[in-house]
Amino acid sequence: MIDDVIGLRGRKLCGTFKGRERDTTGGMLASGRTPGDFEAMYAGTPPWDIGRPQPTFLDLATAGEIRGRVLDVGCGTGEHALIAAGLGLDATGVDTSPTAIEAAKAKAQARGLSVRFRVQDALQLAALGEQFDTVLDSGLFHVFDDSARAQYVESLKAVTREGGRYFMLCFSDRQPGTVGPRRVTEPEIRASFGQDWRIDSIVRATMDITIDPGGAQAWLSAITREPG
Ligand SMILES: C[S@@+](CC[C@H](N)C(=O)[O-])C[C@H]1O[C@@H](n2cnc3c(N)ncnc32)[C@H](O)[C@@H]1O
Repeated sequence: MIDDVIGLRGRKLCGTFKGRERDTTGGMLASGRTPGDFEAMYAGTPPWDIGRPQPTFLDLATAGEIRGRVLDVGCGTGEHALIAAGLGLDATGVDTSPTAIEAAKAKAQARGLSVRFRVQDALQLAALGEQFDTVLDSGLFHVFDDSARAQYVESLKAVTREGGRYFMLCFSDRQPGTVGPRRVTEPEIRASFGQDWRIDSIVRATMDITIDPGGAQAWLSAITREPG
């Protein structure tokens, strides 16, 4: 039913992997990628840009977990912010890639949905000057190295209202091989979110990608912003 709400029924995976992610650094390659690298990848169809939402986020929507004012961080071409808009929620999507943001705006227009899509660094979210009830992250957390990861969590704190929830899907250490983004362990996720946060759940999930019909092994985390 949610597929109908957001106009997805019948869509297929699309795109090809351009081979930019060959890893020579023990799986940490994503930490060296710049916003310009992501922008360049949007000249084609990057492997994460599946043309529809991740099923895990559709499940969250169906379960009523996406509510209030919604921020999609590292939104890419916007599918998860568009879920929120399709549910009638106030939705914002931010990404450093101007090409991705333009594609997201075009999708919103084509689907008759209203979303604020902005070029914005996720490490500087306080610049938005807003707070959100639900923050979605599909594939951004695993982009950052240790230092930027800590900065990112601080940035999230600035825009997640107390009691608000952060849902994050990232590559997991169960994903074999080294091609693709940095693998993240469950203890790493727990260690990243300190006393300002409560980890509600970290569960095994799959992240759909264009280059493998089986998807990639992932973690889906649900984390609540604590008062303070
Ligand atoms: C793996 S892609 C996921 C995109 C989208 N969430 C999806 O599921 O299709 C990661 C996204 O994060 C964006 N990104 C990388 N670094 C960023 C940063 N510092 N601030 C905001 N977006 C960033 C990239 O441009 C890219 O669109």
